[in-house]
Amino acid sequence: MPTPKRTPLIAGNWKMNGLRNSSQEIIQLRDHLAQVPSLNCDVLICPPFTLLNTFADLVHNTPIQLGGQDCHSAASGAHTGDISAPMLKDCGAGWVIVGHSERRSDHGESSQLVLDKAKAGLKAGLNVIVCVGETEVQRDAGETLAVVGEQLTHSVPAGSTAAKLVIAYEPVWAIGTGRTPTDQEIEQVHGFIRQQLTKRIGEQGQAMRCLYGGSVKPSNAAQILPLNDVDGALIGGASLKARDLIDVINHCN
Ligand code: PGA
Repeated sequence: MPTPKRTPLIAGNWKMNGLRNSSQEIIQLRDHLAQVPSLNCDVLICPPFTLLNTFADLVHNTPIQLGGQDCHSAASGAHTGDISAPMLKDCGAGWVIVGHSERRSDHGESSQLVLDKAKAGLKAGLNVIVCVGETEVQRDAGETLAVVGEQLTHSVPAGSTAAKLVIAYEPVWAIGTGRTPTDQEIEQVHGFIRQQLTKRIGEQGQAMRCLYGGSVKPSNAAQILPLNDVDGALIGGASLKARDLIDVINHCN
């Protein structure tokens, strides 16, 4: 089967960072991208919910897309403190991240709940990033592929398409630690994810983007982004500063 062309996605996950004065980073990113004659990747920023509306005004009609970092599995209702997928859409988001390891660990989210959230995002018309990844204990026990396989099987909705769903492989031990797996380790897991997706959803699995996440920064992007079956990155810390994110984006161009 010929490998379909997959446009890289550079996605920034701001986590619980950013106040209204962080708009200056988005403005700097926006103004820089406006000067790039042809952008070779998709660019997504997932700020905290509180900034979505403000950022949506700033990036209107630009290549910068916006997403939420989580959503509830229901569209509305008595769920104090939660945000639904239709609310994200209403604020100008086109995407939602579900199943981030910090949600899975801080909030005890199961793969079943992540699946329900992914379905809610798709139902609301959002593109969905489903995160998977092993802990250090699981890696040391040789369980990486089993864990990632289980998360994929149980968190990715049946009938998912490459146009609407993206996988992010984020080894938990590499997130925010400055440590990254070796190139071979990344390619092994991404190859496995590709194989699992293809088995399950055929050609859509071949075309589906699979991002690497965990301590991606300007100094290692040139090494990580060209790896086999790596179709972009989900970036935490290094996405907070426009300059750093621009440096990573430049490695796709
Ligand atoms: P990091 O976070 O780039 O700060 O390691 C990545 C993520 O958790 O999405």
